[in-house]
Amino acid sequence: MVRRGRVSTPFIFILIGFIILVAILYGQDFSCTLSHFDHHQHLTTLNHSPSIPKPRSNFVERKKKWRREKTVPFAVGKTAESCNIFDGKWVRDKESKPMYEEWECPYIQPQLTCQEHGRPDRDYQNWRWQPNGCDLPKFNATLMLEALRGKRMLFVGDSLNRGQYVSMICLLHRLVPEEGKVMESSYSSLTVFRLKDYNATIEFYWAPFLLESNSDDAVVHRIADRIVRKGSINTHGKHWKGADIVVFNTYLWWMTGLQFKILKGSFKDEVPEIEMLSTEDAYRMAMKSMLKWVQRNMDPKKTRVFFTSMSPTHSKSIDWGGEEGGNCYNQTTLIDDPEYWGSDSRKTIMEVIGDEFRKSKAQVTFLNITQLSSYRKDAHTQIFKKQWGPLTPEQKADPKTYADCVHWCLPGLQDTWNELLFAKLFYP
Ligand SMILES: *[C@@H]1O[C@H](CO)[C@@H](O)[C@H](O)[C@H]1NC(C)=O
Ligand SMILES: *[C@@H]1O[C@H](CO)[C@@H](O)[C@H](O)[C@H]1NC(C)=O
Ligand SMILES: *[C@@H]1O[C@H](CO)[C@@H](O)[C@H](O)[C@H]1NC(C)=O
Ligand SMILES: *[C@@H]1O[C@H](CO)[C@@H](O)[C@H](O)[C@H]1NC(C)=O
Repeated sequence: MVRRGRVSTPFIFILIGFIILVAILYGQDFSCTLSHFDHHQHLTTLNHSPSIPKPRSNFVERKKKWRREKTVPFAVGKTAESCNIFDGKWVRDKESKPMYEEWECPYIQPQLTCQEHGRPDRDYQNWRWQPNGCDLPKFNATLMLEALRGKRMLFVGDSLNRGQYVSMICLLHRLVPEEGKVMESSYSSLTVFRLKDYNATIEFYWAPFLLESNSDDAVVHRIADRIVRKGSINTHGKHWKGADIVVFNTYLWWMTGLQFKILKGSFKDEVPEIEMLSTEDAYRMAMKSMLKWVQRNMDPKKTRVFFTSMSPTHSKSIDWGGEEGGNCYNQTTLIDDPEYWGSDSRKTIMEVIGDEFRKSKAQVTFLNITQLSSYRKDAHTQIFKKQWGPLTPEQKADPKTYADCVHWCLPGLQDTWNELLFAKLFYP
């Protein structure tokens, strides 16, 4: 025993030395390979690997250059560089607003047709967003339709993004004769509005978390115990490839509390491995995945990608100095405190978005609609919508208990989101 030990000890040292040498040589090679993969557009299997830190220094420069060199697809002009179109105020304007009538647009879901469902006032339709530093370009439906010729525009996200999607269709459809357009809705995740003569589609893809989740069914998705699968953006992302303009959103579905359940592995695993993350970290994971997906799958020379920020809700009137126990129900006026930020919208989430966008190389245009929408406590559907189920006598007796302070009437606020999208698309 002793003798054998003596003989093998030097051998072990040699072996360890050899292993270390190999590890150093191959380690270098391996990291080269990894960073090469990282730039490879179509490689998707590395979603789980930790990203290699990249220098951040010249990212602002790069974005400026992209803008300066007129390489921005769809651009026909420019907005003054100094003008932040999301910073401004609401101006009453009955002349130009609304841009269409509720009854004129057959594509609005009954959950958003407030007039049809008895809303007594319509002032909420008569507001125009006025940026402080410049004027918004006028929404030109002809220009938008021409730009879409032979193209695919895709909205991806939750019901709020679906509202923006429908608003976009309402803003355009009047110029297209009846036989030239068709809404192909099905019970799948994808809804397609086809403009036949333009060979174009405007589509909506239901993915409330962008990543794969247990709430992905386009119809049956009212699940309280929500779980999102880590690294799963391609589950849905494979259906987004080839789009020319993509508009993402995701927010409200993450707001279930302080923590969120993240699944490692697969939904088919017998014993699922669940990790609890803070809502902010879970949301950060989604932002990273989205930005990486864009970087790998969207060509910034041909396509445009947008991300719409958090849509605010108005469920507590004490937030704006109203009566205790009230909400958006019966609200017909705007909040005029420019600093207003309701207790429902998390500033920490906005910070996560800001952080991740700053770090990323992906060319994603941020539609920062949160602040300007937060003034619009008047613009929700309240009780004037098709209800999901019958109301109880208690609810009927106290309408605010079933008021919807999340979604927005159409026409209304979300048309402005599309005016802002229009501005950023054609006048970046
Ligand atoms: C709208 O866009 C079309 C197509 O680019 C253009 O011919 C037209 O002059 C524009 N209309 C207005 C009012 O700017
Ligand atoms: C329609 O658009 C697609 C791209 O979305 C293109 O591949 C196809 O050639 C177009 N067809 C016609 C008839 O222009
Ligand atoms: C709605 O608001 C008006 C004042 O704006 C008030 O007179 C009325 O009582 C309110 N109705 C309900 C049901 O709260
Ligand atoms: C969006 O706008 C709000 C208010 O104007 C601002 O506080 C916030 O930082 C902006 N978010 C980002 C990510 O730029």
